[in-house]
Amino acid sequence: MVISGEAGQRVRGVSQSRGARHGSLLHGQSACDLAASLIPESSKRWRHSRSAAEAASEAGQTLSSDECRLLVDAAWVHDIGYHHPDPPTGFHPLDGAQLVLEAGWPQRIAALVAHHSEARFMAAARGVLSALDGWPRETGPVSDALVWADLTAAPAGGRLGIRDRLADIRRRHAREAPQRAAARTLREPHLLLAAARVDLSLVRAGADTRLAFPAARIRRPPSAAVGWLASRHPGRCTGDLEAALHACADLNLEDADRLLVGARGGPDQTLAWAMTPLDEVTTNDR
Ligand SMILES: [Fe+2]
Repeated sequence: MVISGEAGQRVRGVSQSRGARHGSLLHGQSACDLAASLIPESSKRWRHSRSAAEAASEAGQTLSSDECRLLVDAAWVHDIGYHHPDPPTGFHPLDGAQLVLEAGWPQRIAALVAHHSEARFMAAARGVLSALDGWPRETGPVSDALVWADLTAAPAGGRLGIRDRLADIRRRHAREAPQRAAARTLREPHLLLAAARVDLSLVRAGADTRLAFPAARIRRPPSAAVGWLASRHPGRCTGDLEAALHACADLNLEDADRLLVGARGGPDQTLAWAMTPLDEVTTNDR
């Protein structure tokens, strides 16, 4: 796909003045410029994108400097597909990925944009999964951190905990078609676990930053609870289980244990466990 004319110039053009204003702090100068060439700076989406880039720079503290820069770049441009001048699919992760490639950016960033925040679930509901499958899907700390960045950046800028962010998404899409609503529901535990993995890595690194699950640091260090559960359930503390525990980190230990015992096997049940809303669980210390 080639974007021609004025729109193409906007995508390809790099505004040094905008980069100077935004890039030095966030390491994402060129990505900031690409985003600014498409997203009106007066818009909520611009503020969301800027907040996502700020969050990415926090999440990237546990990554190498190269990966952190790539992550911040991806965060800047993850939603540019909403502003594609002639959207080929109408699915913003795919349209955004094409814009990223068209701008001459690395395929890895384009692929991160294509799959950002578990886009595969909504792609399936919208009938574009085969197109998405054409992009390699990265899993690991960088893709997790992009989830963390997107899902802790409020839609109009600023920051939110992930549970509040997901609740806001559900509210805004309350009237959408059942198939899409079901896809969002299926997506949520994967987003929670990705964010919890990032929280864990930040807590372990002693990073001084907000967390996707803000209560966790205050109420109990997740490492202590993981250790306690590991002693009770040897062999069960997989990475995902640790993440799930962190997702429910403001449960008291007895309730966490009860839920864990109820989840007898497999990542699906661990995911279901991680999804258990905190306000549906009786706790002794809340
Ligand atoms: Fe976003």
